[in-house]
Amino acid sequence: MTDDATVPGMTERSEATTARPTSYSRVSLGIMAHSSEANLLGNVHGGEIMKLADSTAGAVAHRHSGGPAVTAAMDEMTFLAPVHVGDIIKTYAQVNWAGTSSMEIGVRVEAQPWGNASDEPVHVASAYFVFVAIDEEGHPRPVPPLETETEADVRRRREAEIRRAHRLARKAEIDQGREA
Ligand SMILES: CC(C)(COP(=O)(O)OP(=O)(O)OC[C@H]1O[C@@H](n2cnc3c(N)ncnc32)[C@H](O)[C@@H]1OP(=O)(O)O)[C@@H](O)C(=O)NCCC(=O)NCCS
Repeated sequence: MTDDATVPGMTERSEATTARPTSYSRVSLGIMAHSSEANLLGNVHGGEIMKLADSTAGAVAHRHSGGPAVTAAMDEMTFLAPVHVGDIIKTYAQVNWAGTSSMEIGVRVEAQPWGNASDEPVHVASAYFVFVAIDEEGHPRPVPPLETETEADVRRRREAEIRRAHRLARKAEIDQGREA
């Protein structure tokens, strides 16, 4: 295989059986909201927030799995408060759960007016993504187990297992209905 300089880690696979702690792959991104991302009300489009959250989750998935990973599902995103042009948007993401080849990544999005350092950042959105690690042929490949480090990590993993059970049950029921 040839090296792909645009995809770091493409050729440097890590051992998928060694557990990785949540802190290993945690990622935070920050941008300033621009007018080109706004709707007619002057608020930032929800899609822009989703894209930033997806990018952050993708970096986490790549770090945890030691190579490329693709978005398989995003089944829950809540928007809690509007983001305005000029706000500094920050994302915080980590692996909540790791399976055989898939991972659930949780993303928290916060915003703060750029000129007011004393204003507390506002929690504006949260999202849960499923990423699947893939090999050179685009097939799922194994990911390392997740090592929880804090009580919050344990809670997030437990809740991720509940969401996964619901996702799989919903998919199975829909598939069953189509086959009938
Ligand atoms: C994601 C993808 C690689 C899965 O391939 P697949 O052959 O269907 O994989 P499998 O059915 O073997 O499932 C692989 C894992 O993904 C999980 N998975 C797949 N689809 C899922 C979904 N919709 N929701 C939750 N989990 C899902 C499976 O549960 C399994 O998890 P596990 O290995 O941890 O047990 C494939 O569907 C794909 O390439 N999709 C397009 C991805 C893409 O282009 N994303 C957007 C741009 S980046």
